[in-house]
Amino acid sequence: MSDQQCCIVVIISGNGNNLQALIDASSHSGYTISHVISNNPEAFGLERAKRCGIPSTVLNHRDFDTRAEFDDALHLAINSKNPDLVALAGFMRILGPDIVSNYSGRMLNIHPSLLPKHPGINTHQRALDAGDHEHGATVHFVTEELDGGPIIAQCRITINADEPAQELGARVLLSEQQLYPIVVSWFASGRLCLQQNKAMMDGAIIPCRGLQIRA
Ligand code: GRF
Repeated sequence: MSDQQCCIVVIISGNGNNLQALIDASSHSGYTISHVISNNPEAFGLERAKRCGIPSTVLNHRDFDTRAEFDDALHLAINSKNPDLVALAGFMRILGPDIVSNYSGRMLNIHPSLLPKHPGINTHQRALDAGDHEHGATVHFVTEELDGGPIIAQCRITINADEPAQELGARVLLSEQQLYPIVVSWFASGRLCLQQNKAMMDGAIIPCRGLQIRA
């Protein structure tokens, strides 16, 4: 990490609510978002970046013949910005092994469930269908295992009786927007790191369920 602020590249695919939360917190959290990359040219997150004067790049995965070619182009685009940290924020593609390996310990993701419960998609309906009493969001280091990297922190919410998935999802999103900037600020300040595939905070191993943040 340079002696200046922690330089972050944020990678998106959609609305950019988490990107916006990271932008809004950046002025008082010790990091700078230097670039936004999207695989979706229609992502509203690109408009959010533009409004905040953050340069962006679109790498439409549909423009590439193979997944490997897209991954190579994305890898080059990230490397060209020389970030201290890559933050996946609503990014809906599975990253190739080269990017994940190269950015091991320098890549975070936020997932809308209490991992290891409900990796993948449709997490809110799955939590309801499973009869879970709690739900929420998880920030983890990215590894080759989808939504499976070392957990750093979670934000928990109670599921209300008969709550529709859409309402639950909206409350989870609010918890994500609270959680992600906090975790990124821990990384930016040097408190958070990955050592031998263990998430570490202030030199201590973070418990496997992560640090718990109350919404
Ligand atoms: C969020 O729940 C995020 O965790 C998931 O996609 C949703 C939308 O993210 N991956 P955003 O609004 O694009 O940040």
